[in-house]
Amino acid sequence: MSKLSLAVEVAGLRLRSPLMNAAGVLGMSPPILKRVYDSGAGAVVTKSVGPVPRTGHPNPTLVRTSCGALNAMGLPNPGAEYFADEIKDLKEMGVPVVASFFGGTVEEFAQVAGTLSDAGADALELNASCPNVQEELGMLAADAGNVEKVTAAVRDETSLPLFVKLSPNVTDIKEIAEAAERGGADAITAVNTLKGMAIDIDFRRPVLANVTGGLSGPAVKPVALRCVWEVAEAVEVPVIGCGGVTTWRDAVEYLLAGASALELGTAVMTHGFEVYGQVNEGIHRYLEDNGFNSVKEVIGLAHQTGEQQSSKADRCSVGV
Ligand code: DHB
Repeated sequence: MSKLSLAVEVAGLRLRSPLMNAAGVLGMSPPILKRVYDSGAGAVVTKSVGPVPRTGHPNPTLVRTSCGALNAMGLPNPGAEYFADEIKDLKEMGVPVVASFFGGTVEEFAQVAGTLSDAGADALELNASCPNVQEELGMLAADAGNVEKVTAAVRDETSLPLFVKLSPNVTDIKEIAEAAERGGADAITAVNTLKGMAIDIDFRRPVLANVTGGLSGPAVKPVALRCVWEVAEAVEVPVIGCGGVTTWRDAVEYLLAGASALELGTAVMTHGFEVYGQVNEGIHRYLEDNGFNSVKEVIGLAHQTGEQQSSKADRCSVGV
């Protein structure tokens, strides 16, 4: 690759590549997340951590579908206190860490955010959108008032860049994104998994013990891309795209829709760690072949008319 840099800045966080892993897919063990970073990601995102240890749902918790995967892990995690040490391990390895987290109440969200900030995370991703558990806050994902309240409480607790990850399982994602922005989000991650299910026709029962689960992978890409498009039009803060990104073409579509960075999840399960290098290379080639000098130049370009895009191209070519 030539010298053209893939570096982006998201909510004050400088990343050498716009790619991260999506929370959850690879768990939270430092050696595995280090492999994500070594494979070309700009930062790693941990599995969501909560206030206390949690075993999650019984098996089966994961089933492959024709164009993706359905999972209902039930947010298993060792609790924020224990996890603080793992963040320290990752930091010692030189890996930028985005700590994903959740709570059952406004106070729990704030408390966990404080613990993870003290542990040295570089940024936080507030999971406002797990499709598989119902906490005291009820369906947080679909309630703009609660999303604003939780975001504001976390904002009071930390000065780290704060991403708020939204659910596609809502009537109007723009409304929820605006609420997160009002609450003090520095970026919106769009989106978490789509609620779905699978049935075993021999047992004549749902496959997942939790009955329903979160659908991810190529099947969700058009829905997630539409969410990024809408959120990018609704808020001023940067958008992080997530949902079925598998190839560099998917990545470029998301950038053009308005994403400043991307999270790849299911693609790592289906294509291995190499997917980060492959997508980085493809984005690089696309930028070079189309006369762009940085990732930033393509972010949100599809929102401009053809005329706006070509006048910009003219300006660039005469060096203005
Ligand atoms: C789980 C959490 C999520 O945020 C998601 O999208 C899918 C599954 C879980 O742990 O059950």
